[in-house]
Amino acid sequence: MQILEARNLKKFYREKGREVEAVRDVSLTLAAGEILAFLGPNGAGKTTSIKMIAGLIRPDDGWVRICDRDPHHQPQALKLLGAVLEGNRNVYWRYTPEENLEYFGVLRGMSQNAARKRAADLLERFNLAHKRRALVQSLSRGMQQKLAIAVSLMHQPSLLLLDEPTLGLDVEATEDVKRLVREIVQEGCAILLTTHQLAIAEELSNRVAIINKGEIVTEETTDELIRQFSGSAYVIETERPIDAERVRKLHLLGLECATSRTIHVADAPMLYQVLAILKPLPILQIQKDQANLTDVFLKLVRGDEA
Ligand SMILES: Nc1ncnc2c1ncn2[C@@H]1O[C@H](COP(=O)(O)OP(=O)(O)O)[C@@H](O)[C@H]1O
Ligand SMILES: [Mg+2]
Repeated sequence: MQILEARNLKKFYREKGREVEAVRDVSLTLAAGEILAFLGPNGAGKTTSIKMIAGLIRPDDGWVRICDRDPHHQPQALKLLGAVLEGNRNVYWRYTPEENLEYFGVLRGMSQNAARKRAADLLERFNLAHKRRALVQSLSRGMQQKLAIAVSLMHQPSLLLLDEPTLGLDVEATEDVKRLVREIVQEGCAILLTTHQLAIAEELSNRVAIINKGEIVTEETTDELIRQFSGSAYVIETERPIDAERVRKLHLLGLECATSRTIHVADAPMLYQVLAILKPLPILQIQKDQANLTDVFLKLVRGDEA
């Protein structure tokens, strides 16, 4: 069963008499144990889509199902959902981490006892136990963000919506959040993740959906997307300079050495012909012309040429 199914979501805003098409057509699905990176430039409609999925704003058209329930009409759907929205408004700054966790747990239907126990577990796991009685406003941004994620997990949701969870975090806190995301998904949660840090999206996601001007322009597994945008070329580097006799043989194949130790090869069949010539020279490395998510993103969103 799909954990999330969103179909043809649309949202228009009226601003100063003008209509803004925030989301024109967004469909997304997510299965248990999957991380979908939801990427797009500023203003593309990511946060608006996430708010519709979370039941916070009503779509003008289209529908959302979380484990077959409609968050806009069936309040039980909200129990299946955890969300950390953009910005810092997910926790109460004048309360402690412990109080926040217990408060939100009870708010989502947990007993006081169950909430207390789960809060203690999460504080431990998120490395926040030593700060459990400090005011949230006194914590670092990274700790506040970890707390916001912990709060969203109190009631063990099936679907977690993370809107820019690593924005403004330092390297260490970012690593912490990445580790937690991996753990949460291994426990079977489905995660919808937006981030501007494409390296993080590439590392964490199984699939990528790219939104531009309110519409999904691409949806594909992360590996396949990167494969599609990667070239077929290789660069071979030898440990020592290639001798004149081999240079001559490579020349017959139409290849020039880029330096005395590097050769560029167009594709895999050619790679093996070149390796046969080089044999038994020690090879330092063979590198494939590999795209990354940033290359893919820029080409799809800005229409950049390769
Ligand atoms: N409450 C609102 N009223 C008017 N326009 C809005 C509102 N929320 C978002 N928008 C507009 O909708 C578009 C999409 O915004 P948003 O969903 O926040 O994009 P993203 O999260 O991808 O940056 C933007 O043009 C934004 O200005
Ligand atoms: Mg946003």
